[in-house]
Amino acid sequence: MAYFIVQGGKKLKGSIKVNGAKNGALKSLAASLLFKDEIKITNVPRIEDVFRAEELLRKLGCEVAQKNGVVTVNPEKIKTASLDPEIAKRFRASIVFIGPLLARKGNASFPHPGGCVIGKRPIDLFLEGWRAMGSKIEETKNGYTLSAPRLMGCDFTFRNISVTGTETLMMTATLAKGKTILRNAASEPEISALAKFLNMCGAKIKGAGTHAIEIQGTGGRPLEAKGKTMQTIPDRIEAGSFLALGALLGDPLRITNCDPEHLEVPIQTLKAMGVPLKKGESWIEVSSPKKLKSVDIKTREYPGFPTDLQSLFALLLTQAEGESLVHETVFEGRLNYAEDLNRMGAKITVCDLTRALVRGKTPLRAREIESPDIRAGLAFLGAALIAKGESRINNIYQIDRGYERIEERLNKLGAEITRVNS
Ligand code: EPU
Repeated sequence: MAYFIVQGGKKLKGSIKVNGAKNGALKSLAASLLFKDEIKITNVPRIEDVFRAEELLRKLGCEVAQKNGVVTVNPEKIKTASLDPEIAKRFRASIVFIGPLLARKGNASFPHPGGCVIGKRPIDLFLEGWRAMGSKIEETKNGYTLSAPRLMGCDFTFRNISVTGTETLMMTATLAKGKTILRNAASEPEISALAKFLNMCGAKIKGAGTHAIEIQGTGGRPLEAKGKTMQTIPDRIEAGSFLALGALLGDPLRITNCDPEHLEVPIQTLKAMGVPLKKGESWIEVSSPKKLKSVDIKTREYPGFPTDLQSLFALLLTQAEGESLVHETVFEGRLNYAEDLNRMGAKITVCDLTRALVRGKTPLRAREIESPDIRAGLAFLGAALIAKGESRINNIYQIDRGYERIEERLNKLGAEITRVNS
């Protein structure tokens, strides 16, 4: 198992480029199953979850090739509608592949998806949506089997907003017969980007990026890319993670190839904390201020404060003067990093499953810690970067799931992180 050795206390100075969005690229890879011909996806990050998605497609019979972040998928020879359980269990987005697969093949089977342990993460909303489109669903001891020789459009309301639920049902409806309306849909930028590309290839999707999406299905006819390319949008969570690191250690840190419009609430939060910040159309520059002010954070669906930045901003709040309340409203198990930060010297009181009180400013001490999930893993890397002394971060597979070669990129800015493959 690989781990990082981190020497704390080094400033970060210079420019860092943001990669393509993990949570965009994974859905484009799934969308390839809606097509008759080859699709090309550019700006795909080379991260573990993407490797798993590519393996999943290959197991289904697709041809997948990659060069310099440009991935081509040819789905002409799909031979099975069952997801490989061992691969599917390793990442949550595996469930997104089921929507297009069901629409394309009329049946699909899959295990309960895995992914970050940040809450219960049920799939009831997906099942309700597929049932509303006419799919039969059988729950087996190993997972689920769906069958729908003819998927019908429907008027479906999500009881809770779900990002992957919206993407999955939007793709299922793309090949269904008739009109589907998805209400109380998620509005993340990755969803509008996906809909825009599908529309370029013959889909009829209106309203993506709002809470009501209308899809006129093709009645089973697959989409045709005819050489068109899906460009992955910049990863707003990676950019936001770099913003937090810049606020902690930036001297200054310039974040390029990003879309500041996708980060308005985190940017406003940093401003309220007194972080010096400049931005242009595709870059943001941050420096670490002498003094950080406390603020309260409440996570929300887009465009609210992203849950995926909650742990990193909580780390930042340990360095702010005063008390801050962190309220996680999206997942009920996403404060599990607090205990480890406390062992490093932070003063975080977890009030209940969703709220924590952070008291600052507290210097952090180096330690050996274990990454529990992608984002808390990066928060621990940030903690090690500001702590006094040498830290060790174990289970960095979790960090590699979402951030490409993070140590090399941060070392170029002045960090001292060594990857040890044991
Ligand atoms: N939910 C249900 N039933 C469902 C689906 C979701 O109750 O059938 C609940 C969840 O338990 C949660 C809430 O709805 O309480 C919202 O979850 P959502 O479905 O929106 O999350 P997701 O689609 O599983 C995606 C990202 C996450 C990100 C969330 C929220 C992907 C692959 N994952 O997850 O990303 O945190 O949206 O923005 O797109 C990450 O990148 O580290 C990550 C965890």
